[in-house]
Amino acid sequence: MKKLVIIGASGHGKVIADIAVKNGYEDVIFLDDDETVKECAGFPVKGKTYEANKFDGDKVVAIGNAVIREKLSKDIKCIILIHPDAVISRRVEIGEGTVIMAGAVVNSDAKIGKGCIINTGSSVDHDSVIGDFCHVSVGAHVAGTCHIGDKTWIGAGATVSNNVNICSGCMIGAGAVVIKNIEEVGTYIGCPVMRI
Ligand SMILES: CC(C)(COP(=O)(O)OP(=O)(O)OC[C@H]1O[C@@H](n2cnc3c(N)ncnc32)[C@H](O)[C@@H]1OP(=O)(O)O)[C@@H](O)C(=O)NCCC(=O)NCCS
Repeated sequence: MKKLVIIGASGHGKVIADIAVKNGYEDVIFLDDDETVKECAGFPVKGKTYEANKFDGDKVVAIGNAVIREKLSKDIKCIILIHPDAVISRRVEIGEGTVIMAGAVVNSDAKIGKGCIINTGSSVDHDSVIGDFCHVSVGAHVAGTCHIGDKTWIGAGATVSNNVNICSGCMIGAGAVVIKNIEEVGTYIGCPVMRI
């Protein structure tokens, strides 16, 4: 029986549980530090996040916050989890701990770092590089030959135009459109984006 330990019993964790079931996991448990949370998506919460290595089975961190996701991933060997309805080119590199949701498209020669979330219906186009612990949110699009630095979050429905680089640690707001390189860490919103 395939076993999976999901670290973080959140909404994001629920989506990951569904992907796990689609990938043939039958024995799924959650870990969470909130003692009031007893179950998630019909699966039990069996312990705290720091206890991951006490449990048998594959592991994945289901925490939206990139800093916490990175911290929790440090001592755990995480699997790559891909929804069967994602479309992934045969010529893609994907780092450990990355999760790719339903309807996402990752095109040829893209590289996705460790611990990323490529969320529902998003896309990463050809030759783009997504750093470690990034999040490409639901319906966001990173066009071809972009470079997104570590822990940058591309908000829901945002678009990054082709050949654009965004430095590490940025927040790109929901619906934003990035048409030029971003070299200073910060939060950016609007079309075209402005720093706030
Ligand atoms: C950009 C963002 C991080 C800013 O959050 P914040 O720092 O709490 O900012 P506030 O909500 O206080 O908003 C500050 C101002 O920016 C505006 N604003 C915030 N987000 C905006 C956005 N995405 N697009 C346009 N304007 C936005 C607000 O209307 C507000 O304007 P005002 O001062 O004129 O009233 C947040 O709004 C956002 O877009 N988060 C992305 C969420 C997301 O994509 N989740 C995906 C889950 S899969």
